[in-house]
Amino acid sequence: MAEIALNALHKAFDDFVAVRSTDLTIRDGEFFALLGPSGCGKTTTLRMIAGLEMPTSGRILLDGQDVTRLRAGRRDIAFVFQLFALYPHLRVKDNIAYPLRSQGMSAADRRQRIDEVAAVLRIGHLLEHNISALAGGDRQRVALARAMVRRPRAFLMDEPLGTLDAEMRGAMRDELRKLHDRIGATSVYVTHDQVEAMSMADRIAVMDKGLVLQAAPPMELYNNPATLFVASFVGAPAMNFLNLEGPLAPGGGTARLAAAGAPEVPVRALPAGVDARRIVLGVRPEHLRLEADGALRGSVYATEYLGSHRLAVVETVAGNLRVRVPKTRHLAIGEPVGVVVDPSKTILFEAESGRALNRLDGTPVRAAAPETPGTFRREAADG
Ligand SMILES: Nc1ncnc2c1ncn2[C@@H]1O[C@H](COP(=O)(O)OP(=O)(O)OP(=O)(O)O)[C@@H](O)[C@H]1O
Ligand SMILES: [Mg+2]
Repeated sequence: MAEIALNALHKAFDDFVAVRSTDLTIRDGEFFALLGPSGCGKTTTLRMIAGLEMPTSGRILLDGQDVTRLRAGRRDIAFVFQLFALYPHLRVKDNIAYPLRSQGMSAADRRQRIDEVAAVLRIGHLLEHNISALAGGDRQRVALARAMVRRPRAFLMDEPLGTLDAEMRGAMRDELRKLHDRIGATSVYVTHDQVEAMSMADRIAVMDKGLVLQAAPPMELYNNPATLFVASFVGAPAMNFLNLEGPLAPGGGTARLAAAGAPEVPVRALPAGVDARRIVLGVRPEHLRLEADGALRGSVYATEYLGSHRLAVVETVAGNLRVRVPKTRHLAIGEPVGVVVDPSKTILFEAESGRALNRLDGTPVRAAAPETPGTFRREAADG
């Protein structure tokens, strides 16, 4: 298995930049997700790693070896497509054997490899079946088996669960992650679904418009988003955003929420050089509280019962806010409430650039400890 390093990797199609000078190191054994909206450059990045697309500039290193100019077949990397081209008229075992046959492996060795991989993926009972007779999840497993049987240095997966229904996606998510842990693979997983990335990956690179905005473990993306985009893309229900009206002194002071009749908000220690006229406050639903005398007044617009808790949508002059409340809290539609923010959890963003500045109480957003190599690995799958 391998470490994959991207150095200033850049891809332009004519004058359209699909991937903008990207630096990333995907560690040996890591489950790494590329997450972002449609068109942000995820597939292009993956195809460059695979050798299916030539970068315009920059380098790709596999375990320190420069493979930028090496063709796909020589990189020893497996690419699992969403609609993996299995041969529908062949049996499962012939599909899995295919890459080994083309390597010229003996029949006995092939059988051993196929049995191994079938045991890991629990498809031993399907080996004699035709592909056309299989359900979606089983096909996905055969596709994985075919990728795994070569024992590649890394797995690249492009929305592999995209065509499955919701229930199957959930099950396959867990299974893929377990599989990754069991074979100690380096996996790069592309998805536009933040739940998928958050629940599976050791680290996630959030991309937008060809740029990696932040690469970090899921919890860090959630707690310390580097930009407004990351904050809004990660987390469900989504973060609430409130516009502040400045100007604010660089040292801090009091700002007004950008709405008539909204209360003042004390802001501490804004960094120098910030456009203090346009600031956005970001606060997650669990960091808002409903209190009878809360300064920001509103009324209950809707409530959603979510099993472990309840989500209240509160209509205020500053916009609708989603507030997490205990499931036992009963709220009537139209009921007047006050909303209170937790200043230690509320993040100030510069509206223009989108960058996170600090928290409402003046503490920095990037509280993360430096990453320690090796700490990203989850507990072994079966231990
Ligand atoms: N061969 C190509 N020629 C021109 N433009 C391309 C080509 N391939 C990709 N693009 C453009 O590059 C951008 C990034 O494409 P890419 O397929 O990497 O996005 P993506 O993040 O995988 O999106 P999706 O979630 O929709 O799959 C898109 O705007 C796309 O139209
Ligand atoms: Mg894509």
